[in-house]
Amino acid sequence: MTVRINPSILTADFANLERELGRIATADLVHVDVMDNHFVPNLTFGQRMVESLQRVTPLPLDVHLMIDDPDRWAPGYAEAGAYSVTFHAEAATDAVDLARRLRDIGARAGLAVKPGTRIEPYLDLLPEFDQVLVMTVEPGFGGQSFIRSTMPKLGLLREAVTRQGLDIWLQVDGGINEETIVTAAEAGADTFVAGSSVFNGGDAAVQIAALRAAASAHAH
Ligand code: DX5
Ligand code: ZN
Repeated sequence: MTVRINPSILTADFANLERELGRIATADLVHVDVMDNHFVPNLTFGQRMVESLQRVTPLPLDVHLMIDDPDRWAPGYAEAGAYSVTFHAEAATDAVDLARRLRDIGARAGLAVKPGTRIEPYLDLLPEFDQVLVMTVEPGFGGQSFIRSTMPKLGLLREAVTRQGLDIWLQVDGGINEETIVTAAEAGADTFVAGSSVFNGGDAAVQIAALRAAASAHAH
């Protein structure tokens, strides 16, 4: 099974993002956390930043919208060139319609769920999506501890993806390091977002390789 390592630039040096992107050239995608200080109690950046980042990296951008009213704002990120646009189930009014609009623009459509949100209501909608993001911390901040009780959702998703014969990436985000990535891979994830463990650990390429090796050995 192919695993993907998507470093989150939330923990990068915002004053030197071009240089920080250079440190993660061996990653699969760049995870871009968009926060609006409403859906989550933190504020990062918006659509213009996505456009600027894409100009200085050849890697595809994996945009994670932690914002209210994604029905209104998410398509702009697809138009800005994001490879994937993931919005939160808790914030969307019509998740299926929004996913279709994102795909029409040419982006992969992603659905994210917070740790306390059940995944069962969405299992029948999976054909509408290209990826599902199971948050393994409460969204808003980097550097938090992995919430293990989210893992059964990955089992349900993996089972549903296999049963329905779908090709959907199952992503985890929050508190991913060399130990927790094994737990998440065993639970069924194939795409791993890592902020602090990539950017705060010295040589980012070494960290990415270590995460990739640990995930590859346990993904199924
Ligand atoms: C949290 C963000 C994550 C965050 C992960 O709301 O969605 O992408 O950057 O950071 P770490 O890996 O430090 O938990
Ligand atoms: Zn994220």
